[in-house]
Amino acid sequence: MSEEFQAPRGFHDILGDDLKRFRKVTTTVREILKKHNFEEIILPVVEFADLFERSIGEATDIVQKEMFIFEDRKGRRLALRPEGTAGAVRAYIQSRLYTKRTYHKLFYEGPMFRHERPQAGRYRQFHQIGVEVFGAPQPYADAELIKICWDIIGSLNVKADIEINSLGCKVCRPAYREALVGYLRGVEGKLCDVCLDRKERNPLRVLDCKVETCREAVKEAPKMVDYLCEECREHYSKVREYLEVLGVRYRENPNLVRGLDYYTRTVFEVVSPDLGSAVIAGGRYDHLVEEFGGPPTPALGFAVGVERLSLLVGTPGEDDPVYFIIPLGDVIPYAIEVADTLRKKGKVAELSYRGGSLRKQLDFANRMGYRYAVIIGEDEVREGVVSLKDMETGEQVKVRPEEI
Ligand code: HAM
Repeated sequence: MSEEFQAPRGFHDILGDDLKRFRKVTTTVREILKKHNFEEIILPVVEFADLFERSIGEATDIVQKEMFIFEDRKGRRLALRPEGTAGAVRAYIQSRLYTKRTYHKLFYEGPMFRHERPQAGRYRQFHQIGVEVFGAPQPYADAELIKICWDIIGSLNVKADIEINSLGCKVCRPAYREALVGYLRGVEGKLCDVCLDRKERNPLRVLDCKVETCREAVKEAPKMVDYLCEECREHYSKVREYLEVLGVRYRENPNLVRGLDYYTRTVFEVVSPDLGSAVIAGGRYDHLVEEFGGPPTPALGFAVGVERLSLLVGTPGEDDPVYFIIPLGDVIPYAIEVADTLRKKGKVAELSYRGGSLRKQLDFANRMGYRYAVIIGEDEVREGVVSLKDMETGEQVKVRPEEI
């Protein structure tokens, strides 16, 4: 195929076993969210670029170099959404949800877009299931969300570790930031070029740089948890207490800072040691709603990276056995009725479009992993039955279609 008709780099089709794993993830997450009474919201894929720039932060990688931005016919700057939180906050304010009840538990599912360098588990179009809670200041809300992440990895039987940290608030973060910048100035010689640039504009990001010399340089850096104000310290300690009650295993990582600027207090990531990256991530963002013109609304959430998590789950087996209907000769009216009868009974039935001899069709059924062949020839039609062959045991019996 000529290159111009291939999908652009970082954009991919999802099919076959990959899609089975993808759906296993989305179905499992949705089931867990349903038990917590989350309500779905469908958000647009396009928003004004400004919404993301102001919420995610001008100095972040996403805003600096990863957004797909374009102009509409009137010259307004639009962006394909790189994440869902900003749009959810916009929708919360625009629909005045805060006038309807004191708190909301929402979730969304869909594609996100970031112009990153593609690699295993990193794409330019990827999917998230995002969860956002608006109007809940309580530390048990943080604990409940982290527990949901714990349940997700447990239900999917995935090996991953939960890391948590607190990033403080408007009151305590400035003093910490100042202390950190002071410290970083002292170790400039060891920082990579990117971090040299970050150290004044977005110093917290230096803490999670993957470059070895930077990791070495920040080992002795001041830690946010030592600078928390009374309220933030109390909040963080309650979150950990409730996580213990809920039996969630977690690790405190004082260098966990996240790549988006809107976070306050609790942040967390579910990290896969096999992928070396986060499969789920989130945290609290108590000021964002207010910054966009809504009433003061403490909020928190997380997003599941569906493709990334899919890489870690096993391919689900054939859940429902497939009945493969093989019509031989002039029996189509009977065969399509049999297919309909089976489907009405809740079975998965596929009418063969394969053609050819019975042997070839049985070979085909075998190759596809279908459990039963439903053979229909003129004899079967006359007798009002089908020949049902169990492809695993080879056993074959004549039965009436309603009795299958
Ligand atoms: P994030 O950490 O930027 O957070 O993304 C969340 C998850 O999306 C990541 O942990 C990862 O699994 C997946 N992800 C991110 N980028 C890519 C990519 N290029 N390819 C594949 N997967 C990717 C957020 O987006 C926040 N909105 C989460 C949040 C919700 N915080 C509060 N509420």
